[in-house]
Amino acid sequence: MCLQEKLDEYFEWFHKNPELSYEEYATTAKIKEILKTEGIGILSCDLETGVVAVIEGEKDGPVQALRCDIDGLPIQEETGLGYASRYAGRMHACGHDFHIVAGIGCAILLNERKSELAGTVKIIFQPAEESSLGALKVLETDALGDVEQIWGIHADPTNEAGVIGIREGYVTAAVDRFVINVRGTGCHGAHPDDGIDPVPAASAIVQGFQTVTARNINAFHPALISVTRIEAGNTWNVIPENAVMEGTVRTMDRKDRILIEKRMREIVEYTARAYGAEADLEWIAGPPATYNDGEMVLKCAQTAKRCGFQTVPEESSMGGDDFAFYEEKISGCYMKIGTGKGQLIHQPGFMIDKKVIFPAAQYLSALFVGKN
Ligand code: NI
Repeated sequence: MCLQEKLDEYFEWFHKNPELSYEEYATTAKIKEILKTEGIGILSCDLETGVVAVIEGEKDGPVQALRCDIDGLPIQEETGLGYASRYAGRMHACGHDFHIVAGIGCAILLNERKSELAGTVKIIFQPAEESSLGALKVLETDALGDVEQIWGIHADPTNEAGVIGIREGYVTAAVDRFVINVRGTGCHGAHPDDGIDPVPAASAIVQGFQTVTARNINAFHPALISVTRIEAGNTWNVIPENAVMEGTVRTMDRKDRILIEKRMREIVEYTARAYGAEADLEWIAGPPATYNDGEMVLKCAQTAKRCGFQTVPEESSMGGDDFAFYEEKISGCYMKIGTGKGQLIHQPGFMIDKKVIFPAAQYLSALFVGKN
């Protein structure tokens, strides 16, 4: 069986067997089994799920890494594919099954060309990207201490197979979550003067937030605050005691991220007080913004051309990726590989055009060996 056929077969297996974040046990076992069969080194490191493959070149050179995330999503698949998920309510709807086999293919090709490879390549099969925190599990091990550059890929259903989207600078946003608790005093709906209504205070806080992005942030800097959940009360004639709100903040610039948190805390505290209520904000920090290194972007574009891919400018997104945690320590480049136009990621009909798998593996291996 040729490599292309093997990768297609592996892809179908991974697509059929999706596992959720931190539960990728069968996925990890399958990746390890394939790596062993192919004679590829596995780094011994302390990961509950996920695995790091190592290919040591015969020439001197830097240590580089490729990140491939491996988890699926709690979505009921509706693709009608012959190799659709065998589990109800679980699906590879973000293309991480494609990332796994592209990484495996890259490892196999590099292993065959060790004599030409300068330096070492570590291929990280990372758990729990969808939790936004899986990268930290890898960073907690000593697997990446010597890595100088890291590459990351993502499936892109807005482009056809054969197209790679790439941009220099910020690619995805910092992802933070907040929870706000507004505390008043409950009373009869007919007698608001007997209590402190948390609902108008919560409404004023939401309105106040919009002035932060409009008035405090440089107009050229992308930043947003979305309040996505408001809960208060449970009937029509009682003023509730509490209102709870939740949402997300997205920023690109590090200083904007700090400023927004500070302004939101001020608005929450003082607005509540102005309404006679009390409130606090819990800030749950996620990954920072992903930033693409200029030299690596150039290499990505040159390699794409050499491998017969077309490159297009990628738009930056207010979505996030925990790939950014690696970039706090290591220069990185995150690119989007066209997987055929169709339903977007995280949708029940999302599909990968299988003809992109083998060329993607060739392309990724060419980032590490061969001339540009
Ligand atoms: Ni994804």
